[in-house]
Amino acid sequence: MTSLASITLVFAVAAFAQDPNSRAKDANGHDIPFYSPVRAPALPLAVRSPYTNAWVSTANNGTLNSNGAIFWTGDPLGWEGIITVDGTSYEYLGTGMSGLPILKNLKKAIPLSASYDSQYSNFTLAAGPVHVTACFLSPVTPMDYCRTSIPLSYFEASWESTDGAAHDVQLYSDVNGAWISYESDKALEWVLYGDDTPINGTRNITGASDTLYDWFVNQQDPYVFGENNDFPQWGNLSYATTPGTAKNFSFQSGHSTDVRFNYIMDRTLSNLVDAQYRSTTDREPIFAFSHDFGSSISGSALYTIGTIQDPIMRYLTPGGVIPLAPYWKFCYGYILSIVHHHYQDYATIQAESARFESQLKADVASYYTGNVAMIYSNNTPSPMPSYANLSMDVYINGTDQFGNQYIFDPENAYGFLNPSNFSGIAIPDVSEPESYYAIVALSARQVMGAYVFAAPPDLGPTNESPLMFQKEISSDGNVNTVDVMYPAMPFFLYVNPELLRFNLNPLFQNQESGFYPNGYSMHDLGSSFPNATGHVEGNDEYMPVEESGNMIIMAYAYYKFSGNVAYLRSNYRLLKQWAQYLIEFSLIPGIQLSTDDFAGRLINQTNLAIKGIIALKAMSQISSAVGLDWDATNFSATASMYYIQWESFAVDPSENHTLLAYQWRSSYGLLYNTYPDKLLSLGIIPDYIYAMQSEWYPTISQIFGVPLDSRHSYTKSDWEMWTAATCAPSTRRLFVNALAYWLNNTSTDRAFTDLYETIDSGSYPVSPNSIFFIARPVAGGHFSLLALLKAGQNTGNNSITLSNGTAT
Ligand SMILES: *[C@@H]1O[C@H](CO)[C@@H](O)[C@H](O)[C@H]1NC(C)=O
Ligand SMILES: *[C@@H]1O[C@H](CO)[C@@H](O)[C@H](O)[C@H]1NC(C)=O
Ligand SMILES: *[C@@H]1O[C@H](CO)[C@@H](O)[C@H](O)[C@H]1NC(C)=O
Ligand SMILES: *[C@@H]1O[C@H](CO)[C@@H](O)[C@H](O)[C@H]1NC(C)=O
Ligand SMILES: *[C@@H]1O[C@H](CO)[C@@H](O)[C@H](O)[C@H]1NC(C)=O
Ligand SMILES: *[C@@H]1O[C@H](CO)[C@@H](O)[C@H](O)[C@H]1NC(C)=O
Ligand SMILES: *[C@@H]1O[C@H](CO)[C@@H](O)[C@H](O)[C@H]1NC(C)=O
Ligand SMILES: *[C@@H]1O[C@H](CO)[C@@H](O)[C@H](O)[C@H]1NC(C)=O
Ligand SMILES: *[C@@H]1O[C@H](CO)[C@@H](O)[C@H](O)[C@H]1NC(C)=O
Ligand SMILES: *[C@@H]1O[C@H](CO)[C@@H](O)[C@H](O)[C@H]1NC(C)=O
Ligand SMILES: *[C@@H]1O[C@H](CO)[C@@H](O)[C@H](O)[C@H]1NC(C)=O
Ligand SMILES: *[C@@H]1O[C@H](CO)[C@@H](O)[C@H](O)[C@H]1NC(C)=O
Repeated sequence: MTSLASITLVFAVAAFAQDPNSRAKDANGHDIPFYSPVRAPALPLAVRSPYTNAWVSTANNGTLNSNGAIFWTGDPLGWEGIITVDGTSYEYLGTGMSGLPILKNLKKAIPLSASYDSQYSNFTLAAGPVHVTACFLSPVTPMDYCRTSIPLSYFEASWESTDGAAHDVQLYSDVNGAWISYESDKALEWVLYGDDTPINGTRNITGASDTLYDWFVNQQDPYVFGENNDFPQWGNLSYATTPGTAKNFSFQSGHSTDVRFNYIMDRTLSNLVDAQYRSTTDREPIFAFSHDFGSSISGSALYTIGTIQDPIMRYLTPGGVIPLAPYWKFCYGYILSIVHHHYQDYATIQAESARFESQLKADVASYYTGNVAMIYSNNTPSPMPSYANLSMDVYINGTDQFGNQYIFDPENAYGFLNPSNFSGIAIPDVSEPESYYAIVALSARQVMGAYVFAAPPDLGPTNESPLMFQKEISSDGNVNTVDVMYPAMPFFLYVNPELLRFNLNPLFQNQESGFYPNGYSMHDLGSSFPNATGHVEGNDEYMPVEESGNMIIMAYAYYKFSGNVAYLRSNYRLLKQWAQYLIEFSLIPGIQLSTDDFAGRLINQTNLAIKGIIALKAMSQISSAVGLDWDATNFSATASMYYIQWESFAVDPSENHTLLAYQWRSSYGLLYNTYPDKLLSLGIIPDYIYAMQSEWYPTISQIFGVPLDSRHSYTKSDWEMWTAATCAPSTRRLFVNALAYWLNNTSTDRAFTDLYETIDSGSYPVSPNSIFFIARPVAGGHFSLLALLKAGQNTGNNSITLSNGTAT
């Protein structure tokens, strides 16, 4: 058994093992950074909203200065960092210096490490006799609505002499207008504020080390609520810093090559603001700062970055379609004052972030203390068995987990699932708690980064709750898609169930106002973020059983974790209406789409039907919570009766697994929709179904996890983690370790995708190959185990304490 102490120790090693001597070189002799806890395909740099969503890829063993900053889409964002040491400049952030001629005093910093936790992505690089550390902090503070509503991130660059001697050091950084303008021919305009006053020319900074210098860049002709290739067409880019401990400080905007070349030659900037407003491709304008530390042994500069939209959403209300202000306006007021507030808040928010982070680690450790899987890691790998009779060729083709192209590192060799039950199912043999931590730590910023917090139209002393709007990033850009909120639900239940209410509120408000003509739940609140205008004609994507079930289950889950019965009462009419729809259509769903719509339509989907049945059981609990016993009895009786029939339709005649669809013998799939039964203690699914599935999954597992269903070799990471939570510890370990192993080894090269191949290189889906699910909030589903932990601790009381910063 692994003890709590040893679990904690594992984390300590993962977070602090940054031995530069252990770093590897690639075939070309280039240094590979030491990645920790895993080599995630991309690391978040500034991920705070669907529009402030910057990452760096680790493709080709890359890091901060080999792959530049990208928007989640993969489009480049201009973001440069140079450290100059005794006259030699080293590029440590970005790749923009490749645009300059070869200069003998310009080099690349050498990568040492790239690490992340739930709040930070940290990079260390060597620049001659100093080490530079770039810490990117996108705080995740889900109890704190005001701070969470700010779409800005922190970037702290610090350096330290490694030879004990003082060195003459300058830090340089710039950004370009790509953050706020996808179409490169759109004219920009910009201004540099010094403590809110536009400035230009030399300024005396001595004695004013806390003056906030703030580049603001926007399109000359913004298109409010418009998007282009997912980039916002309105709002302001803000890049801010203070001189801090620098002895000299300077700034400049101008043509990228001129500004950078002159900086490298002079090691200072001109303090001039270019007045030739133009587009990003017309003599690329950049916006730069330089901190000169003189001769010293260490120093640091703090920057904040993000794009800020005001107004933030278009929202359909009984009074018409109105623009909604961002929630931060209510907390902090004027746009420039949030930058000030945010900048000055660094120490406080670091402490808040650290609290979240240490709680996360403690909770992961605590979950595993009570749920350790048996580990057989010291066994000698046995010959690989072959499973010749499985239905799909792909599994016997040698691309399965027993295909020889997957040779694990003999140092940690094969781990085996319980050998007495499944002879020789190989599992990447790494610590499961460490693997799970690597998954959830990467997911937290991605989930929160898909949201904006808006002020509700009736904001005031009686309603201070923000409305949360989710962008269905990457897949189709819908607003508050119900079947995207549903997989993300475990995250919200774990961090703060009130956020689930803020998610659900706009959907309830729209449908309670009579803006949706159908008897079932709507699919989403608008086809194109940020237009939350609903579907007054009722022709949204048709997923009635899926979404009606999801809404009921989410409403009940919110209640179960918050104790807020008033919420159920005020939405009871709609919930009951949807439950009645489920009575009609859930047992035999016919040709309904499920959430996995990319996988195609299928009649009688087992996993969809069980969702409907679980939702009916949840509805009976809702009825009983609000005191409507007659309804409760009815819904409960229907759920039980349906369950018995479901089981007779759903289980394969071999009795080894459930089917993907009632009529399709030998088909199978992840039965992830049983997770809410377990999470919410609904008691619909008997233990033998869980046990049967738990024994089945390993037999169809591939190297990077268990396929979503028998039609494809791809899987979904969110549904894998939901399913893992329904399994016995040994099978759960298979899911968790395989996902972390994928994260560490995948050939995908952007933010955490939830849809990937379980075979070959763990790429984006091979077929259909046009589907990319990148940076989606469904990563919230990875918190399934932590939500279970929380459910165990939950007392049924609303014990959430809100702390929201300083309201002004
Ligand atoms: C990345 O580095 C590892 C060694 O740590 C090497 O095996 C692998 O081939 C490298 N990948 C690429 C794409 O260079
Ligand atoms: C990143 O750096 C911050 C600030 O120094 C530190 O608190 C945090 O623990 C670091 N995280 C990782 C994963 O290195
Ligand atoms: C610059 O700042 C110093 C210290 O605050 C002050 O003594 C000096 O007068 C300032 N010079 C100008 C030109 O503002
Ligand atoms: C949102 O609606 C406005 C008004 O109809 C429209 O101009 C804009 O293009 C829409 N935005 C998106 C992203 O579709
Ligand atoms: C932000 O951009 C708008 C145009 O979209 C512009 O009118 C406004 O002045 C900018 N705000 C600041 C503080 O520069
Ligand atoms: C800043 O000052 C310089 C030099 O006086 C001038 O050329 C430039 O147009 C000014 N920029 C702005 C934005 O006014
Ligand atoms: C600051 O910059 C000025 C002008 O470039 C220069 O004369 C001075 O020596 C610098 N001070 C330090 C401490 O580097
Ligand atoms: C798998 O099938 C493909 C296509 O039929 C074939 O090219 C490949 O060699 C097979 N791999 C193995 C390991 O048999
Ligand atoms: C924010 O905090 C203030 C002061 O504690 C409190 O009065 C206010 O109700 C809070 N607002 C929200 C939205 O939680
Ligand atoms: C759907 O399942 C029901 C119950 O098993 C069955 O009667 C019906 O024929 C199935 N539909 C199709 C198209 O197979
Ligand atoms: C079902 O499981 C039993 C053992 O539990 C096994 O003997 C049998 O081969 C399995 N059937 C299929 C079709 O996998
Ligand atoms: C990730 O890969 C590194 C280097 O190969 C290895 O040391 C580490 O154990 C792996 N972690 C996981 C969780 O697979």
